[in-house]
This record gives sequence, C-alpha cells and structure tokens, in this order.
Amino acid sequence: MMFARVRSLAMNIASARIYVDVLKSSSEMRAWSRARRRAGDTIAFVPTMGYLHEGHLSLVTGAKERADRVVTSIYVNPGQFAPHEDFDTYPRDAAGDHEKLLALGCDAVFEPSNLYGSAHQTWLRVEELERPLCGTSRPTFFRGVATVVCKLFNIVEPDIAVFGKKDFQQWRIIERMAEDLDFGVQIVGLPLIREPDGLAMSSRNARLSPEDRFAACSLSKALFEARDAVSNGTVNAESLREGIAQTLLTAGAQVDYIEIVDQITLKPVKKIDGPTVIALAAHVGDVRLIDNVEVHP
Ligand code: PAJ
Repeated sequence: MMFARVRSLAMNIASARIYVDVLKSSSEMRAWSRARRRAGDTIAFVPTMGYLHEGHLSLVTGAKERADRVVTSIYVNPGQFAPHEDFDTYPRDAAGDHEKLLALGCDAVFEPSNLYGSAHQTWLRVEELERPLCGTSRPTFFRGVATVVCKLFNIVEPDIAVFGKKDFQQWRIIERMAEDLDFGVQIVGLPLIREPDGLAMSSRNARLSPEDRFAACSLSKALFEARDAVSNGTVNAESLREGIAQTLLTAGAQVDYIEIVDQITLKPVKKIDGPTVIALAAHVGDVRLIDNVEVHP
C-alpha cells in the first residue's frame, strides 16, 4: 500500500513515533483500516474540517483512550456549506494539523481532496432533529453533515466515532443516524472546550478582529449567566432567553437564535425540569458563532 508518511518537524519530541500516515484516497483509507482490523485492533475515528485547535485535539485524546488506533479526517466538506457561506475562506493548515496529530499519537489522517463524484445525488436527512436550532437558518447544513459522516463511516469503518458537544445538535443527529441505519459504530460525545476567557474554541475564531473577539465573549458570558440563574432556581425558559438576548444585544452580537431545548429531542421547553441545553448562534462581525451550555434543574 502506498501512502504519504509525514515526518514530524519536532524530532526532539520524546515519542516513539515520528510518522503519521496520511491517506489521500478512499481506497487507501479503507485498506489501511481493514489491515488494522485484521490485526485485531479497534479503530476510533474523529471527523474534522481541520485547522485544529484544543477542542479537536481533546477528541483525539478521548479517541485514543477508547481504541487501539485513531484515525482523524480533515475534509472541508462542500456539501454542508450553502453557496453564500464561508467555504472558500474556511481556514486551512494541513502541515500544522499533521504536526499536532502526530504529537498526540494519532495513527492516520484521512485527507481526501474530494468525496463527491460529479453525478452525486444521494443526501441523508435526519428529519426531525435537523429542523430546529441551526437547521432553521441553515436548512441544508445537516443533510450535508449527515451525508459526509455516513460516507466517512463507510470508508473508515470505525468501531467508535468521537464528536464534540460544541456542536450539540450535530452530535445528536449523528447518534440518531448511526442507530437508525444500523452502522454499528458507537457514537461518543465529549465536552465543549473553551478559551480561558470563556469563548468556545472554533476554527472560525481565527477570523475575528480584536474588537469582534471581545464581543464574541458575550456568547459564553450570556450562557454562563443563564446557567447560574438556573442554579439559583430560575426555571422559566422565556425569562432566561430574555436575559441572554439582552447580554448579546448590549455587546453588539447579532442573534440568529437562542433556544432552550430538551437534550434528547431538541424540542423547546417552557420550564427547565429535566436535562436541558441552552443553545445559541450569533453573528459577530461577519463570523457566525455557536455555543451552548447543558443545564439540569
Ligand atoms: P469541525 O467544525 O472541524 O469539528 C470537528 C469536531 O470537533 C466536531 O465533533 C466538533 O463538535 C468538535 N469541536 C469543535 N470545536 C470544539 C470545541 N471547542 N470543543 C469540543 N469539540 C469541538 O463538525 C465538523 O467539523 C463537521 O461538521 C464534520 C463533523 C467534520 C463533518 O464535516
């Protein structure tokens, strides 16, 4: 089997491994996985769009704890961007990503240049879960996510796949899809990782100007205030939403949605009386950011 091996520039890392296998085609990736499985290894998979930060890397670490081998994919999926969205300006840094993955002991990187044939016309929909929250303003986003994750599962054939709760709705959708379509892949959701100032880590944060970066912190600030209010006995969803909206407005963030929903069904709740997630999306400058906190009564 022929595939690229990327040698670490950080050769002084006290690590036994100095290569990460970079697989560029689906057939190479599938052959790699099958060879490892024949050897009796289990495989954990971390799908990403690259420009990796500590949030992504926490998933790789979590994956390593759960299987013998870890595969990370880096693919900016055109199928989940609408024509007016930021596909062209989405940040990319393949060499930096390889270094980070190697340092963590990731075994293989799947980095296809294109996963869609010119005649592609099959799209997966997770009908109810894809509708609320981000689905309202990005109506074709989750069909793109579900379709590419399905394709990636078929190529990588993992035992486990790890997702971040930063994208809470995405995690729920993939869990539903994997169960509905009998993938036999265990879906694991791991905690949202934040910057020291509270901002949820995101590849898109790199596009925030210093002033916008300050305004972006209002998203987590508003959510933490709401979480504290719940801890102090507030159960009324509408009054929580009003408080969040006020904080975002004051900071100059433009609200896309603020929703308070059941953690499993993602249906809105009026009163917090079970496991709930408060999720929001807002534009700061021309960057769209999402964030959420889990709350329990
Ligand atoms: P991407 O935005 O690159 O995220 C890849 C994975 O990293 C997702 O599971 C996401 O939830 C997780 N992640 C991102 N920021 C995080 C943070 N601050 N803390 C914890 N986890 C975080 O999500 C996608 O790519 C794509 O939709 C994909 C699933 C790869 C399909 O194209």
